[in-house]
Amino acid sequence: MEDFENRIGPAVEEFVRWSSPVLQFARFVTEDTEINGYPVGAGDRVGLFYCSANRDESVFDEPGQFKLQHSPNPHLRFGGSGPHFCLGNQLAKTELRNLFRELLTRLKTVEFGQAPSGVRPVGDIMRVEVDLDKCTGHGICESIADDVFEVQDDGTVLIHENERPETDRDRMQQAVTQCPAAALRLVD
Ligand code: HEM
Repeated sequence: MEDFENRIGPAVEEFVRWSSPVLQFARFVTEDTEINGYPVGAGDRVGLFYCSANRDESVFDEPGQFKLQHSPNPHLRFGGSGPHFCLGNQLAKTELRNLFRELLTRLKTVEFGQAPSGVRPVGDIMRVEVDLDKCTGHGICESIADDVFEVQDDGTVLIHENERPETDRDRMQQAVTQCPAAALRLVD
């Protein structure tokens, strides 16, 4: 919190540069022209890789590092310039400033944890599902992960926590592949 008001501005710019809220966009070229010496024709599609531009070593010193010293911070996270520049950029930055102010003043400690069930951070959580019409209660899945799968008296499998962290992928994949009834599946 030391000097919060003076540091949060550059910090927000650096959060936005360093993280990747929008990775890329595509745009259609409206007239024949060239980009960096490469000819492009009207109707061509070009990719805008904001994620790459924001790690450009010719612009940022140690671009892979999160550094408050990246100030001024000419990131392209909200677009470059022009008519499509993000309309919500000021709102997004205000939200980030206030989020960190509240986080740092209201909470005594902050730790990494697991998202509550029902909330899926993209890429971090997968879902294991069982098709009860197919399940024969063979139990191979239980022998692979008895903390997750439990064969019930009625011969079907109960999944205790069907949202699993990415670190569980190998075990879950094994259960899916080995299920003789092909009753399990993983949903990313
Ligand atoms: C960190 C959060 C955000 C990021 C990284 C972001 C990023 C972007 C990017 C890269 C573009 C395209 C710019 C271009 O093509 O030049 C864009 C456009 C846009 N953004 Fe955001 N944005 C964010 C938050 C928001 C919010 C909170 C709103 C509205 C409440 C918003 C509304 C828009 C709109 C309406 C456009 C289209 C503008 C146009 O095409 O004329 N954005 N944003």
